[in-house]
Amino acid sequence: MSAENGISRRTALMKLGVFLNGVIGVFLAVPIVRYLLSPVTRERKVGYDSWLSLGGLEEFPTGQTRLATYRNPLVNDWDGETGSIACWVRRVDNQTFQVFAINCAHLGCPVRWFPQSNLFMCPCHGGAYYQDGSRASGPPERGLFQYRYKIENGKLLIKAGEMPTPGQPVANTAGGKPACA
Ligand code: FES
Repeated sequence: MSAENGISRRTALMKLGVFLNGVIGVFLAVPIVRYLLSPVTRERKVGYDSWLSLGGLEEFPTGQTRLATYRNPLVNDWDGETGSIACWVRRVDNQTFQVFAINCAHLGCPVRWFPQSNLFMCPCHGGAYYQDGSRASGPPERGLFQYRYKIENGKLLIKAGEMPTPGQPVANTAGGKPACA
């Protein structure tokens, strides 16, 4: 083997080693860089603490109670239609709403709104609630549960990932009016 051949082989092996080190370095660096940039590049995922829109304010005329639906923020891809959740929206005045869970406070059957009698009625055991969600008669021991809400950019948003709470004054942390039963 000549000295010239030995040098060129050594040079080639050195270049190959530098190249392979570079490739490995890139493989190691990619996850680290992605981790460091994640606060900037990460998509904002909808979570349990998200505010979800029920629609524009014009969909809820003052003095009326309307059915609305939202998509459960904790839904999985395979949940299908079971991920859509209904609620009742009562618009008290221009800026004041009540958003009721559709489930009866007794054993959870879906209540229906009857504008003729201004009552929510439960088909299971005859529970009834006044238009403000408070208990009227029957087995339920309390009024309908309510969601926290706020108004933003002409839309009604609710804190959909939280369990609705008993119909008591609820501090609305993000600028909406408190919901009271
Ligand atoms: S579930 Fe509504 S009255 Fe029993």
